[in-house]
Parts: sequence; structure tokens; C-alpha cells
Amino acid sequence: MNVSSWLKAAKKKTDRLDAELILAYVLRVPRTFLHAHPDYKINQEEQDQADSFLKRRQNHEPFAYITGRKEFYGRNFKVTRDTLIPRPETEALIDVIKTIKPAKILDVGTGSGCIATTLSFELPDSEIDAVDISENALHVARLNAQFLGAKVNFFVSDLLQNVGKYDLIVANLPYVDREWDWLSPELAFEPETALYANDHGLALIKTLIEQAQDHLNPGGYLVLEADRSQHQKISDFARDFQFETINDAQKSDLSVVLVSKNQSAH
Ligand SMILES: C[S@@+](CC[C@H](N)C(=O)[O-])C[C@H]1O[C@@H](n2cnc3c(N)ncnc32)[C@H](O)[C@@H]1O
Repeated sequence: MNVSSWLKAAKKKTDRLDAELILAYVLRVPRTFLHAHPDYKINQEEQDQADSFLKRRQNHEPFAYITGRKEFYGRNFKVTRDTLIPRPETEALIDVIKTIKPAKILDVGTGSGCIATTLSFELPDSEIDAVDISENALHVARLNAQFLGAKVNFFVSDLLQNVGKYDLIVANLPYVDREWDWLSPELAFEPETALYANDHGLALIKTLIEQAQDHLNPGGYLVLEADRSQHQKISDFARDFQFETINDAQKSDLSVVLVSKNQSAH
């Protein structure tokens, strides 16, 4: 069998991009190679592997779990079924934090460690801690930091239970409301504890806001990812805990940036 005939058959079962990504991954070539070499011969082992990956994609398994890799902010991260797959939208949190340049940062719900590890490269003068409630996720986070050569302290904590004080706390916590009707079947492959929260997706974010006052240095920042539909509720809730919203919670796509009002900054 050659490239062109495998792709032709595969495109009847999945979309073109998926089919090409799978075959390129199996052959260890860039996708452009497939277009340039439609007659390239695929051996039996390659075909079996590509067929089995195709079947997994047809069952909605995300491509990142098939390859075990996902790119985030230009670096390649290992992902497993114990970690959320980093989303491109989350990169916006890094851009926000780079403008603040805090000295001491905590990443809550670190998952694959993508936020903490990226910050350690983008802000090399900052000290970075990262926590998760899942030991299995932390194992993957440590492997990523080690492999990429990042300096991050990872440890277990239920939200802020085991942590000290920081200039900035960043969190991409579970915020999906089970009631949302646009959830994709791919989500079934990701850990429930990484996705869903009670109280319309806001339960963990609210508890974090309550706890954060005692764990932020004066004028410290809390940077949260949430769905746009949740931003106003988060801003309103945070006001009761002496936080001021400093970005436009209505317009920004994912991040809500809060600054603590308990004394002026530094
Ligand atoms: C949406 S994922 C984010 C993963 C990663 N930070 C990212 O942006 O790709 C949420 C993470 O929060 C963790 N988590 C859930 N509940 C937690 C809690 N109470 N305390 C700490 N981490 C928690 C999950 O295990 C999961 O790794």
C-alpha cells in the first residue's frame, strides 16, 4: 500500500487533517512529505499502526493521547491520561504573567506542568512552585520539567492547603459545568478531576479566591482561567474578598486577573 491509497481509505473514516497527522506521525515525516510523495510505500507494520491509531481517533480519542505529546508555548510536553491536554488558549496566561514579572509564583492544578515549566523559562529570575491534588499528574509534570531542564518545585496540595505566600498565584482549575451542551466526546478521555467542578463550574475557583488572601503578598495577583461566561461572576465574587479585577472580565477570552487590595503593592 502507498501513502495515497491509505489516505484515501482513511478519509472515509475521519477528517483529512486527522488522517494526515496519523500517517505523518507513524512514518515520522512532516505532513508536507505526504503531499510530495503520494507513491511512497508503507510497510505492513506501519500500516497496522496507522490503522490502529485511526480506529482510536474514530472513537474520539484525542490525537495528543495517541502520540503522548502536546506542544505548549513552543515546547513539547509529555501527556498521559492522568493529565489534561494543554490547550492553546492557556498560553494567554503566560503572556499576562510575563508583563507582571512576579518574583515568587505558584501554579495551582499544574497537570502536565505546562504553565509552571513555561514560566520558569520565560521568567528565569522568578521562583516557581507548582501543586496538584493528583500524584499521577505531578509525576508527569516532574518528568516534563526534568526533560526540558526547568527549575520548578512540584508538590501535592489540595488548592492552597500546603503552600506558603506568593506574589502571584496562577490557576487553570477545573471549571467545566457538566450541564454545558457543547462538550465534545473527546473530553471523556481526560481526567474528570481535571475538567469538572460543581456550582456551574465555579466551586474550586471560588474556594481558591477565598483561600488566596492569606497566601498572597500585599498587592499580589491571582490569575485565573475560566470560560468567558463565568468571568463576571468570578469578578463579583472576588470583590467580597478584597480583590479588584484589573483586566476587562467581559472581553478577555480566558484570563481573569485579580489584584489583592490588602495593602498597596510592594
Ligand atoms: C484544567 S487542569 C489544568 C492542567 C494544566 N495546568 C493546564 O493548564 O493544562 C486542572 C488541574 O487541577 C487539578 N486539581 C483538581 N482539583 C484540585 C485541587 N482541589 N487542588 C489542586 N489541584 C486540583 C487537576 O488534577 C488538574 O491537573
